[in-house]
Amino acid sequence: MTEDVLFQITKDQLETGLRGVPVGYCTTSYVDPQKGLFYIQKKVAELAYLDPIQVIYLLYFGKEGSPSQVQEFSRVLAQRAACKREVIAAIGQLPRQGHPMKLLSAAVLILGMFECTQDYKEDCLNLIAKIPHLVAAVINHHAGWGQTPDPLPELGYMENFAHMLKVPGADRVELARAFNLFSILHLDHGGGNLSTFVGKAVASGLEDLFGSMSAALCALAGPRHGKASQDCLEFVQEVLQEVGENATASDVEALIRKRLSNNQLVFGFGHAVLRVEDPRATVQYDYVKKYYADYPLVKIALLLRTEGSKVLAENPKITDPHPNVDAVSGTLLTAAGFGYSEYFTVLFGLSRTVGISIQIVYERCQARGGKGTPIIRPKYLFKERS
Ligand code: MLT
Repeated sequence: MTEDVLFQITKDQLETGLRGVPVGYCTTSYVDPQKGLFYIQKKVAELAYLDPIQVIYLLYFGKEGSPSQVQEFSRVLAQRAACKREVIAAIGQLPRQGHPMKLLSAAVLILGMFECTQDYKEDCLNLIAKIPHLVAAVINHHAGWGQTPDPLPELGYMENFAHMLKVPGADRVELARAFNLFSILHLDHGGGNLSTFVGKAVASGLEDLFGSMSAALCALAGPRHGKASQDCLEFVQEVLQEVGENATASDVEALIRKRLSNNQLVFGFGHAVLRVEDPRATVQYDYVKKYYADYPLVKIALLLRTEGSKVLAENPKITDPHPNVDAVSGTLLTAAGFGYSEYFTVLFGLSRTVGISIQIVYERCQARGGKGTPIIRPKYLFKERS
């Protein structure tokens, strides 16, 4: 192929989810099949234990900030962090029957109704600043944990979230430490993950940032995407229930073989792009080994890591038998005191809102010499119904 030809679409590539088809540029991150996620040019593992604001600064400005630059950015976000009282009050009227992700998607639309400026850059900064308060209000309302306090300017980004979230009986320091790591690992994942692609696609029709983000969060809510974190924890809990906390590797291996022979799903493995263990999973495994090595769910998650990959790798049809980011994220949150699996995707959404907002601003305001990308309009071939 010549230099300019990046990819040749053949008929057997149709209806394959655009796998490997280049459609644009991403200026915040990329995913290497063998090395995993890079934020700008930094491996995510090198950034995992920083202050989330430092990493958000890197994604927002495209370069690392000095301590004073990061401090000023943190001050700007803190000034914008509180949602209007009307927004929090409207969230308090949302039906609790829906999955929390439906409430979050609605809450982002409500935030836009009261606070949208129609300027993508301004709205991006406001949404990044306000999403912790908004998510705390959604979860506190859905869980019946009571009123949500305003953010405190003296607290850090996810420290504030841990302060506003009224988790019964949790250690706020331990929670904030886990939320810091979780949020950094989920900020962005290249330009083509479904929720990011959907957010940019909706924005390409010049819908405002809040409407575009609401659509992106509906995409994230699917079991093949962000809801996998909820399904994975429930899977680890089922395995613990079945084999017990003193299970051996061979007990877990036998259970996995039994599930596969019964055509049951084994959760937490595989990825559309990666062909190695997701480095975001590796960071989380190291974290739970350091802080929660004796926690029953952690012991099972670590056995699933080795035995699941071993068994799945025996099948030549499986292109990626390795653990992905969801394999242990719910176990980590549960060990840290937040064992509410129905809210895991909401936490994923809190974090991913940052990367999606910044990528929408790129496509609306900076791409193609500042003109922005045109409306997304791919071609479909007409096909007679069989
Ligand atoms: C993500 O972080 O968005 C997931 O790994 C899915 C993806 O990258 O497609």
